[in-house]
Amino acid sequence: ATSVEELTSTLKNFGLDSVPQLPNTYPTLNPIDIYRSHIASLISPIVSVDAKTILPTISWTNSLDNGDLMLPAAALRIKGMKPQETAEKIASQFPESPLIEKPLVAGQFIRFFFKALPLSKLVVPSVLKNGATYGLNQNLGLKDASDPSKGPKKIIVEFSSPNIAKPFHAGHLRSTIIGGFLSNLYQGAGWEVIRMNYLGDWGKQYGVLAVGFEKFGSEEKLLENPIGHLYDVYVKVSAIAHEEGEKMKALKEKITAAKTAGESASEAEAELQKIQDEGIDEQARKYFKRMVDGDDHALGVWRRFRDLSITKYKQTYARLNINYDEYSGESQVKDESMDKAAKIMEDQKVSENSDGAVIVDLTKYSKKLGKAIVKKKDGTSLYLTRDIGAMMERYDKFHFDKMIYVVASQQDLHLAQLFKIVDAMGLKEIAEKCVHINFGMVLGMSTRKGTAKFLDDILRDVGDKMHEVMRSNEDKYAQVEDPTRTADILGISAVMVQDMTGKRINNYHFDMDRMTSFEGDTGPYLQYAHARLTSILRKASVPQDALLSADLSLLTETHAIHLVRMLAQWPDVFFNTMRTLEPITVLTYLFRMTHSLSSSYDHLQVVGSEENLKVARMALYVAARQVLGNGMRLLGLTPLDRW
Ligand code: ARG
Repeated sequence: ATSVEELTSTLKNFGLDSVPQLPNTYPTLNPIDIYRSHIASLISPIVSVDAKTILPTISWTNSLDNGDLMLPAAALRIKGMKPQETAEKIASQFPESPLIEKPLVAGQFIRFFFKALPLSKLVVPSVLKNGATYGLNQNLGLKDASDPSKGPKKIIVEFSSPNIAKPFHAGHLRSTIIGGFLSNLYQGAGWEVIRMNYLGDWGKQYGVLAVGFEKFGSEEKLLENPIGHLYDVYVKVSAIAHEEGEKMKALKEKITAAKTAGESASEAEAELQKIQDEGIDEQARKYFKRMVDGDDHALGVWRRFRDLSITKYKQTYARLNINYDEYSGESQVKDESMDKAAKIMEDQKVSENSDGAVIVDLTKYSKKLGKAIVKKKDGTSLYLTRDIGAMMERYDKFHFDKMIYVVASQQDLHLAQLFKIVDAMGLKEIAEKCVHINFGMVLGMSTRKGTAKFLDDILRDVGDKMHEVMRSNEDKYAQVEDPTRTADILGISAVMVQDMTGKRINNYHFDMDRMTSFEGDTGPYLQYAHARLTSILRKASVPQDALLSADLSLLTETHAIHLVRMLAQWPDVFFNTMRTLEPITVLTYLFRMTHSLSSSYDHLQVVGSEENLKVARMALYVAARQVLGNGMRLLGLTPLDRW
């Protein structure tokens, strides 16, 4: 990593005797912090405001045309002066600086443009030396910024959380993508991250599944494709259960009709009784009861379904660069925790009885929250009850500083109820650490064969499509070492980037043709940009020390300077993403960067340039590839070198 000594010696050459550094800035990690501190210190005497107070008012810009940094004068709250006057005063009295051009004023905004040469000398080596960690900042997650020995804060990110034997639907896909990204983000900020998958793996439907497996299950198919097979079994047995339900309804009507007419209905009654006693529903109820009572055999069958599904899920998650620390699930929530919660709710008068069930009336906090059932008449728990128990268990086990639930906005009410109930139970310290990160729907997600059911099918289809696209360029195709893997990665990038384009809360259309296109801001385009950069570097390889001693004063073209300015922004983009928690914050930056790159190649050629110039441009490109790759990995993508 870069050191303060190196920065000091770089800055000495420009006439600064030390590295400008105000508290809570990280000059060795974020070159722009040097400028922020510098600017704040220069403005301080002009407006008689403490530099520390000025620092946070200096912000980044949306476009480099508006400067590298800017300051809205109103934020300084200078009394007796209009913001515009303040801006003009600052600009006119701003001293000559070795790092910054004379500031420009637009209305109340003061715009700062960095001088090119010192910037290149600060940024390019910083990227090269910090490498894969450039942009990240492990200090952000410290419990106590002034005392690193207290260690990092801990966060649980709960995401994906599919239901066993049910389709892995678009909501799970989005949760997986967004949750994977958030985990990387917090990790990059130095938090201790626990990635948790909370499976839907409990309830009467697992009795239905076990009964179904006895009828339709195949050991061979189970081992081959557990998720798909269990789903098929579930669909078949549910169809029978549904038929039986219809039959019972008809029989009941028949019996009532017969009775009104004073006729005997004994045949129908016997038939009805038989279904009630032996039908799928009753068998499943009994089976699930055995599971609840801890029957070894029943639990063994269920656990096997669960374990095989998890093994299969792990393979798919690995393709998305996701590794869980915990596979928890509704089944894992202990009865004791739920009993304990029930007792607290009762003691605190949070819950009340209602027709034999237990409910929590949340309307006293907010009408929207409604009334929530926490125990059914038959005494069994519900989805919500298990979530309450799970939250308490997790807090006991991990003492997290924050917990994020990445769940579709369809469950906004469920999570709002959960958080409010735990709060009302007197566990505010836990509830206030919990955050629901929600997102909109994916519309029209389908495979080539029909509506999508499983993540694997979607990834396979998109991968196949990318493989076709790759084959259309025979020469290039011949050079790809492992085309299947490459197509898979391209396909995954296509799906992920489409998902991350736009704010989380927006719905979007799953559009296979658009996402796999190389035109427009797509995953394949991002991969193309990375591979193209890699190929330029491959053709003219220069060792790392040569890059570090490159003569960066040769980077004089507007395109080169623009690229350097973009590279400088990456740590700030990362920092801002910690605030927005939106993948689009990263993606927008990466696309701006790939656009600058693609318009630069003609102007900044490497091959054929004079040796020193070549090395300087190589250093710039290596740095650009590093930042592009860092951004892609943060999103969960696997940057490709060739395809
Ligand atoms: N399994 C649930 C579903 O598919 C999602 C679980 C979300 N997490 C939670 N703690 N409730 O709808």
